[in-house]
Amino acid sequence: MEVKTSLLDNMIGVGDMVLLEPLSEDSFLGNLKKRFDHSEIYTYIGSVVISMNPYRSLPIYTPEKVEEYRNRNFYELSPHIYALADEAYRSLRDQDKDQCILITGESGAGKTEASKLVMSYVAAVCGKGHEVNKVKEQLLQSNPVLEAFGNAKTVRNDNSSRFGKYMDIEFDFKGDPLGGVISNYLLEKSRVVKQPRGERNFHVFYQLLSGASDDTLRKLKLDRDFSKYNYLSLDSAAVSGLDDAANFRTVRNAMQIVGFMEDEVQSVLELVAAVLKLGNIEFKPESRCNGTDESRVKDKNDLKEMCELLGIEQSVLERAFSYRTVEAKMEKVSTTLNVAQAYYARDALAKNLYSRLFSWLVTRINESIQAQTKARHKVMGVLDIYGFEIFEDNSFEQFIINYCNEKLQQIFIELTLREEQEEYVREGIEWTNIEYFNNAIICDLIENNQNGILAMLDEECLRPGTVTDETFLDKLNTICADHQHFESRLNKNSKFLNDHSLPHNCFRIQHYAGKVLYRVEGFVDKNNDLLYRDLSQAMYKANHSLIKQLFPEGNPAKVNLKRPLTAGFQFRASVGTLMRNLQTKNPNYIRCIKPNDKKASHIFTDSLVRHQVRYLGLMENVRVRRAGYAFRQPYEPCLERYKMLCKRTWPHWKGPAREGVEVLMADLQIPTEEISYGRSKIFIRNPRTLFFLEEKRKQCLQDLATLIQKIYRGWKCRTHFLLMKKSQIVVAAWYRRYAQQKKYRNIKSATTMVQSYTRGWQARKLLRELKHQKRCEEAVTTIAAFWHGTQARRELRRLKEEARRKHAVALIWAYWQGLKVRREYRKFFRANAGKKIYDFTIQRIIQKYFLGLKSSMPSMSPIDRKWPARPYGFLDGVHTELRKIFHHWRCKKYRDQFTEEKKAVYEEKLEASEIFKDKKALYPNSVSQPFKGDYLEISKNPKYQKLNSAVDEKVLLADVVNKINRANGKGTPRIFLLTKKNFVLADQKTGQVKASIPLPDVTSVSVSTQKDGFFALKLKEGSASAVKGDFLLSSEHLIEIITKLHRIGATAADREKLKVDISDEFLVQFKQDKVCVKFIQSSPKNGNSISCKRKNNRLLEVSVPTSP
Ligand SMILES: Nc1ncnc2c1ncn2[C@@H]1O[C@H](COP(=O)(O)OP(=O)(O)O)[C@@H](O)[C@H]1O
Ligand SMILES: [Mg+2]
Repeated sequence: MEVKTSLLDNMIGVGDMVLLEPLSEDSFLGNLKKRFDHSEIYTYIGSVVISMNPYRSLPIYTPEKVEEYRNRNFYELSPHIYALADEAYRSLRDQDKDQCILITGESGAGKTEASKLVMSYVAAVCGKGHEVNKVKEQLLQSNPVLEAFGNAKTVRNDNSSRFGKYMDIEFDFKGDPLGGVISNYLLEKSRVVKQPRGERNFHVFYQLLSGASDDTLRKLKLDRDFSKYNYLSLDSAAVSGLDDAANFRTVRNAMQIVGFMEDEVQSVLELVAAVLKLGNIEFKPESRCNGTDESRVKDKNDLKEMCELLGIEQSVLERAFSYRTVEAKMEKVSTTLNVAQAYYARDALAKNLYSRLFSWLVTRINESIQAQTKARHKVMGVLDIYGFEIFEDNSFEQFIINYCNEKLQQIFIELTLREEQEEYVREGIEWTNIEYFNNAIICDLIENNQNGILAMLDEECLRPGTVTDETFLDKLNTICADHQHFESRLNKNSKFLNDHSLPHNCFRIQHYAGKVLYRVEGFVDKNNDLLYRDLSQAMYKANHSLIKQLFPEGNPAKVNLKRPLTAGFQFRASVGTLMRNLQTKNPNYIRCIKPNDKKASHIFTDSLVRHQVRYLGLMENVRVRRAGYAFRQPYEPCLERYKMLCKRTWPHWKGPAREGVEVLMADLQIPTEEISYGRSKIFIRNPRTLFFLEEKRKQCLQDLATLIQKIYRGWKCRTHFLLMKKSQIVVAAWYRRYAQQKKYRNIKSATTMVQSYTRGWQARKLLRELKHQKRCEEAVTTIAAFWHGTQARRELRRLKEEARRKHAVALIWAYWQGLKVRREYRKFFRANAGKKIYDFTIQRIIQKYFLGLKSSMPSMSPIDRKWPARPYGFLDGVHTELRKIFHHWRCKKYRDQFTEEKKAVYEEKLEASEIFKDKKALYPNSVSQPFKGDYLEISKNPKYQKLNSAVDEKVLLADVVNKINRANGKGTPRIFLLTKKNFVLADQKTGQVKASIPLPDVTSVSVSTQKDGFFALKLKEGSASAVKGDFLLSSEHLIEIITKLHRIGATAADREKLKVDISDEFLVQFKQDKVCVKFIQSSPKNGNSISCKRKNNRLLEVSVPTSP
């Protein structure tokens, strides 16, 4: 467990002045001293941090310390500036409140150091990352640059800020730094030209001369010797503990980090060098003829070098140091400058040059460090302003600085003392008023618009006529005479007439922090801040971009005749803006105290500290703090913030917020004296109570976060688990399936294996058995076979033996019988033995012939000509007869198979054979051709439909024939139709009937003996058909046509048989003439075709090629 320390642990004195008992100024100082002596430089008054300057480095700013204070409550650890920084940063980050850190104290009290500590702490604890680190680095590194140019050694402080600085650090919603904006307030520029004794010019001059390389110095035309420059005070040029050369390198490095370009750095250094050179320009008087003095530059070398550095034409600048041009309305008046005026002009130029360079640096740094986003951001402002100063010789600058400190004190009083007390009264909290000194009256003395000192100074500056510092003092003497905080020798009531500590040219103001005597000398000039226009124009003409930029009013095109605003006016305005800005933010105070005037460690000058405690109003602060309440908040946000600490208010409180808060506090058992309920706010007396609440809230938030986390994690885990479970089931199912499949396959293959082995074994067993059985059977068979063989052979032997014996017996018996028979029949043999033997032999031979014939019968085909040969000549007749009988019988069998149609066909064929066989050479070809009859398929062919209808009988034959023309012997194709009654000749193409001849009119047909198809149909003489004469036709189917004609004639009862003449010469009756048709045989070489030629009137010769 973490060990909680407290402010109260190991406390030296008291860490918080509120706890001081008894409370008195002495005990207060005693506590401070005690703590200071023990190196405890920080002490609280409530939430205000008092910081004593230790003037030595203490080991309390280490990174470990940063970690220690990080995210800890304000009162948890011993007082530290880090606790305040942490508090401010956290309330900026977590509560979205803009913060400002107000650091006050005298010069040298440690304000600048404190501001740097705050910044470095915030930089250490806020976000990290490449971009963020760069921003942080730039913000931090802006300090060395500004300190080099704006800080100087004074008698009070070796590193005294001679300008006011307010820096806004901008953060995003996460608390990461985004950038920053720096505002600067009135640089004490008079220091550039003159430093009080024991003090130095701004650090940068010394740093440049000590730290720059020889080369750089040569380029800047400078010598590494402080004594050569009028503007550098020599008596305190070296400061112990300050290494100017090292600091120069730091500054160069910082400039680079902040984002200065190399040429920008060069320009800046050139300007610094130019200021030094400017200080060396000296003037001498030169009398003019009109008796006035005119200034002249003494030694022009420095002027020349300076002009070279800045790119200014020497003559222009020289003239500007000698003359002054005053423009009034339309006029331009040029007056000469005397030596004093020339010096004044020179110094004014140097001061302006430097202060403008400083402002330019701030602007340039701002450009680099400004936030890159336009997003809304939170702001932490750190104010480090020059501290209250009392010197021997106080001038306008001190007046301004102290005025600024008055304003800061005012804001402190306003917020911590006045406002707080007023709020108690307003809220109706019981309150006894605590008296304190309100410095508003001093602020009023200075800044009042009518009769304030600054207003009067401005009035004096703008007034026509001669204006001097003395006239200004006079004015003050008259107007502020009655003011209790204003004193001067010539005061009206002259109460100070005898006060010799008050010189004549001075006035004294009783500031909150003490009386300060101001010498009026220079007030008017410094307030006017005049730079002769000739000089600004000369600067504008410079061939140096930075210089040109710094003197925009030198642009002749933009001549402004108005007087520029006075320094006092500007400062008042900017301080006013600053105060208004600070009031919008949550203030955090660091009040710095200087323990001694010697910048020495371990010395605690009682009177000095007492004085500071007094004017800072710290005692009053403690009193208000002790009597008052550490914390207040309107009821609504309070309830909203802490409502989770009580069950009744969480999550929603229905009633008024105040009641809710009361219930909440009662529930938390907060002691009643710790809390007061105002009209609209709750007041909490002790910060510890607030921390208790915050701690509780933090814990509760943690618990809530844990609860949310728990539920979310539970949900996430459950969802994850369910998903995993589901997946697991799927995986398991798949795996099981796979495993079972695998197992099943294994078992199956094993089973198959076992089965196959078993079956194999069984099969082999069976095989063996079968083989055995077979072998047995074989053996048996073999044995049986052998046995049977043996038996058979034995039987055979026996039978053979028996047969041999029988044979022998028979042979013997036959021999014996033969012998007996021969002996018996010897006496009958000669009478009839010959015939009997002959008959028997013949009989045996015939028997053998028939049996042989039976086994060698030929086939049943009628055309089979085979017949077995006869064995004996005497069977010749029988043999031929048997052959004939067999053939007839065979033919009959063959005929018996015929159908009627086939029979008719064969009858026709038979008839054809009867008619033509051996008579006509064409016949043998026709034997194998079937008689188709209708070759034209006349009934089916639609072409012959008409012809078909003309013939009413059944067509027996239809064919195309050639009708031979008697005139030339050529043939004309004609359709030849034959029916039972007639024959018809018709045109082959048209089917038109040419002739229809009744068959009875046909008496005979003539054909040749040769292979031609010519035939002549001869008609009965005197019949109607015979008028045209006989027909000489030729056809391929001649045999069929004539056979058919013949058969019709044979079957018809009413007619004679058709006569068929077969001869190579016959007569044909054509009308009246008879023509002889003669057939001759031609040799095949005359062509293969049959030709018919008309030889003469009575002879047609048909030549038929002989077949090869
Ligand atoms: N916390 C500190 N620790 C060590 N030295 C300090 C501390 N604060 C101030 N100093 C010393 O005091 C000097 C003056 O402090 P500084 O902050 O410049 O004063 P101020 O800004 O108030 O004029 C510093 O240069 C430093 O030497
Ligand atoms: Mg300072």
